[in-house]
Order: sequence, then C-alpha cells, then structure tokens
Amino acid sequence: MERILIIGCSGQIGSELTLALRKVYGNEHVFATDIKQPATDITESGPFQILNVLDYDALLNFVQKNNITQVYNLAAILSGNAEKNPLGSWDINMKALMNTLEVARLTNAKRLFWPSSIAVFGPTTPRNNTPQLCVMEPNTVYGISKLAGERWGEYYFNKYGVDFRSVRYPGLISYKTEAGGGTTDYAVEIYYEAIRNKSYKCFLKEDSALPMMFMEDAINATIKLMQVDSENLSLRSSYNVGGMSFTPKQVAEAIKKYIPEFTITYEPDFRQAIADSWPASIDDSVARNDWGLNDKYNIDSMTKVMLKEIAKKLQ
Ligand code: NAD
Ligand code: SER
Repeated sequence: MERILIIGCSGQIGSELTLALRKVYGNEHVFATDIKQPATDITESGPFQILNVLDYDALLNFVQKNNITQVYNLAAILSGNAEKNPLGSWDINMKALMNTLEVARLTNAKRLFWPSSIAVFGPTTPRNNTPQLCVMEPNTVYGISKLAGERWGEYYFNKYGVDFRSVRYPGLISYKTEAGGGTTDYAVEIYYEAIRNKSYKCFLKEDSALPMMFMEDAINATIKLMQVDSENLSLRSSYNVGGMSFTPKQVAEAIKKYIPEFTITYEPDFRQAIADSWPASIDDSVARNDWGLNDKYNIDSMTKVMLKEIAKKLQ
C-alpha cells in the first residue's frame, strides 16, 4: 500500500489533490503538509502536519518516520509573485525541489511528482501548438526555476533511479481555493468577480491567449501519470499538457451567456509581459500517447461549473 506525502496541501492544487488522493488510497495513507493551515476538510479527513519543505532534516525525518513511498511536492512561488522577489523566489523554488529529490534518493519515497509549467517556454519558443521539444529560453524567474527543476528531475532519474514524474501544467482554473499569485490567475478571479460584482478589471489584454485547464482534468491527469507503469514513460523531464486555449475576451463572452449584464475592462500590468512570453496553445500529444492524458472540459462546460460552484460558495 502506498503511503503518500503531499507538500503544499493548502494551495490551489493541493487543496483538491489531497482529497482526490485520499479517495483513491484511503484517508490514513495520505499525509498532508504545508506551512499554512489548510481547510477543515483536509484536517478532518486525514493526517495533517505543519512541515516546511525547506527544512531538510524535518522533511527527511517525516518521510522516514511515516514510511512514505510517494511524494507530491507542490510548494513554489508562482510567476507573478516571483517577479517581485527574484532571488528569494529562486532560492525557495529550487531548494523545495532539491530537498525532495535528495530525500527520494536516500529513502523509499522514490516516486516523486513535481509540477513544471508552461512558463518553461519563452519568447523564442513557437507560440502556437508549442511542441514537447523545442527552443526553451524562459525570461521569468519562475520559468527559469521550472526549467532548471525539470533538468534536475531528469538527472536524478538517470543517475540515482529517482522515479521523477512531472507535467507542465497550463493555467489551472478552480473554484475551491483561490489562485496563488500567477499570471493565469485572472481566469479564476474573473469568475469570482462575475458573481460578486458582475464586472471585472482584467490585468491582461483582451486578446492574450494562454493554455488553461479545469482543475478536475488536472487532478485526473496528475494521478494518472503517477499510476502508470514506468515503461510507458518516454520522458523524465516534464510532459506538455495543453488543456484548452482562450483569451480574456473569450472567457468574458462565455460568462455573458449566464450573466448577460457582466462587463469587463482591461488594464494590463507587469503580468502582460509574462503572458506575452508564454505559448498560446500547447501540443500535448506525447502525454496522450505515453500515458493516456485525456481532458474533458472546454470553456463552456468549465464556465457553467465555475459560476454554479462559486455562487454556492459565496452565498
Ligand atoms: P499555491 O501557491 O496555491 O500553493 C502552494 C502551496 O505551497 C501553498 O499552500 C503554500 O503555503 C505552500 N508552501 C509554500 N512554501 C512552502 C514551504 N516552504 N513548505 C511547505 N509548503 C509551502 O500554488 P498552486 O497553484 O497550488 O501550485 C502548486 C504547484 O503547481 C507549484 O509548483 C506551481 O508552480 C505549479 N503550477 C501551478 C499552476 C497553476 O495554475 N496553479 C500552473 C503551473 C504549475
Ligand atoms: N499558473 C501559473 C502561473 O501563472 C503557470 O505556471 O504562474
């Protein structure tokens, strides 16, 4: 039986992935940790402990004491926040990864999931239908740390047999936990503001197309990748995951189908330059062929769920 450690269980992804993994592996086998207190559905359904992934000794001790076999490491500073504190964010993002790689090397926690991002691509990358392998010259702190992280993950697989697995998530859209300081956060905020105020001031231009995915699809993809046999994996860096591609104007139009009076204005800030350096759409055929990536939501089906669930939550 797997014994799973989640690092970063209180964040946008962790708050949903923890509960999904508990359904699959049993509540008592999924150990949730973070430096921040999570929602009560996590603390009440299984083990939770405050744990700082930057504290190597505490991490090693936790993994050994609880006989952990798999780790999902979700701790990171996202793209928008990382630009405000470049050196600090580099230190956190890299140390959070290197500590889990080292612990995986030295213990039975050999299978490690660590998410990369579409931010590994840069302005010299082909923007549309971005291939798995192409020019990668990221020009953001976050993107540089993700590309370095992918290289380290593959290195630990080749040199030490660490079962490193990763996807380059697109922007993730969810209603449970608010997004954590990224460039794609507008596509979460817009739904909250549509319900609260029927209007939204967007920090990206109306025609900024970016790859995006609904959280349910992202969680399913993550668990699928972690369960597939090693022989199916042709890559040990990180798999492209495309989801859908849309602009702020297209989300606004999708929302107007349900809230006709909804209005949007555009005031691009520093995050526009980040968005401009990223792909507009992604070719994820390698993930589809290797391990059966198969997402089901499009902008309309996602919008319907987002509006319904946020309205319920804010009531
Ligand atoms: P988030 O900011 O919402 O959550 C990160 C969590 O990590 C937070 O709860 C935070 O408290 C925790 N954390 C931070 N420092 C920590 C530390 N030192 N020790 C333990 N926990 C710590 O981020 P998220 O959106 O859930 O993203 C999770 C991962 O997925 C990150 O690696 C991120 O780069 C990646 N990713 C996210 C997206 C997205 O759209 N959400 C897209 C691509 C990649
Ligand atoms: N959603 C993330 C961000 O905008 C992409 O990795 O930072």
